[in-house]
Amino acid sequence: MSELASIPPTFRDDVESILIPEAELDARLAELAAEVDRDYAGKELLLVGVLKGAIFVMADLARYLTVPSAMDFMAVSSYGSSTSSSGVVRILKDLDTEIEGRDVLIVEDIVDSGLTLDYLTKNLRSRQPASVEILSLLTKPSRREVDLPVKYIGFEVPDVFVVGYGLDYAERYRSLRDIVTLAPSVYGG
Ligand code: PRP
Repeated sequence: MSELASIPPTFRDDVESILIPEAELDARLAELAAEVDRDYAGKELLLVGVLKGAIFVMADLARYLTVPSAMDFMAVSSYGSSTSSSGVVRILKDLDTEIEGRDVLIVEDIVDSGLTLDYLTKNLRSRQPASVEILSLLTKPSRREVDLPVKYIGFEVPDVFVVGYGLDYAERYRSLRDIVTLAPSVYGG
């Protein structure tokens, strides 16, 4: 069990394995921030975090960035089932700020089918920002249903159930420091 030592004992039985440990997440976010810094040198960014999964990516990425950045958040809900989205997205919380003429970077935890972000980018582009790009910590390319350009990607992951570092299963496990795979017994697999 020593490989799961970083998992709090209360969650340890639910975790199958650590897919991406905290240190790797941290190092990759530092690299992505350096890329963003280079690409937006001399500009000012608006980071748009998509609640709730993106909270830790947002917090850690923002603290590595050296370009000036403001933060805003959106909350959306898909009309699909709990395991697959339909592409129809309802905005539960919109941005607090106008984005016309601004450089917007959407910050996500995971792109799966891509339907949520396809809708979101189109929606934000209609508000005439100077630019809209996407940064996602994780991507599951095998699940993609739309051609979605994701400019900054942390890690490609296989089509397995992953939680932690913001990602949940039934609102649990978001607070785990690593990205882990869940034991099938947890989700009835
Ligand atoms: C996840 C993730 C993306 C979306 C990706 O959010 O944060 O927003 O699903 O799926 P897609 O590419 O198939 O559209 P979720 O709906 O689980 O909400 P949460 O962030 O509050 O956990």
